[in-house]
Amino acid sequence: MKVLVSDPITEAGMAILKEADFDVIYLPDSSADEKADACKDVHGWVVRSGTQATADMINNADNLQVIGRAGVGTDNIDIAAATRKGIVVMNTPNVNTISAAEHTVAMMLALSRNIPVGHGGIMKGQWNRNALVGTELRNKILGVVGLGKIGREVIQRCRSFNMNILGFDPFISQDMFNEAEVKVVDIETLTAESDFITLHVPFNDSTKDLFNFDRLCRMKNSARIINVARGGIINEADLAKALNEDKIAGAAIDVFISEPIGEDNPLVNAKNIVLTPHLGASTLEAKEGVSLAVCEQVRDYLLHEKLANAINMPVSDLAKLK
Ligand code: MLT
Repeated sequence: MKVLVSDPITEAGMAILKEADFDVIYLPDSSADEKADACKDVHGWVVRSGTQATADMINNADNLQVIGRAGVGTDNIDIAAATRKGIVVMNTPNVNTISAAEHTVAMMLALSRNIPVGHGGIMKGQWNRNALVGTELRNKILGVVGLGKIGREVIQRCRSFNMNILGFDPFISQDMFNEAEVKVVDIETLTAESDFITLHVPFNDSTKDLFNFDRLCRMKNSARIINVARGGIINEADLAKALNEDKIAGAAIDVFISEPIGEDNPLVNAKNIVLTPHLGASTLEAKEGVSLAVCEQVRDYLLHEKLANAINMPVSDLAKLK
């Protein structure tokens, strides 16, 4: 059986596939056309976020049984097309959690203490000490949008800074949290009352442009927003406008609607912004973890039809629906 790996994974992950005697095609740096060509006759396909597994590619992949996503977000895979073709899509939901949560806290601190600007100034021979007065996290209100695994890890870390936590999640009620630790509120209250807002929801039709200009203007002028989840949840042009017009005090953004971004992205020259190139899961631990997990899952499905972390329920045999 053949397995295409079209994004970088670690050697230990590759070893799992090779030891299972799969014919492994490794194309981490190839073009979309080359990947489309390569996936036509493979049985398994491993991606991270760099490959767009489009409906066309999936429809042309006649032998494909499983797509494994090394990571959490599956917005780069056309899941509907895979489901229609009986192809299982699986991700590795537990492995990146801590890295994403830690990067969120790093971004929050970098933003509140002007770390990138201070560093950039020193590199240019400046000593901007008096201009770079930051703000403490202590006693500030942190609004966490999305109370899943990553949101909860962020909360745990931010409580150690003595932040007061507001949480919003359409699927979670106050019963699941001690109100003294996390007060569950609606999105309007969270937007209006938070000093820092951090996003931990997937990108989909209901979260696209969740923070548009209108909502950004309903934040406090002194508030800051952090997005280590997915590009597009904050509208990029609207965020640049809100920052440049001092509607909010700052933003730290790790993810973008289209990656990589170029110098023409409106956020690049926006005021009071910290940008990183999708580093949320870029740690040695997370990279190794997702590589091992996805390769084991794809191997176990191809060899033993064992399902782990499947996020669709493909209909391979319509007769089974009777
Ligand atoms: C994830 O969804 O797991 C992270 O954003 C990292 C990635 O996209 O590879």
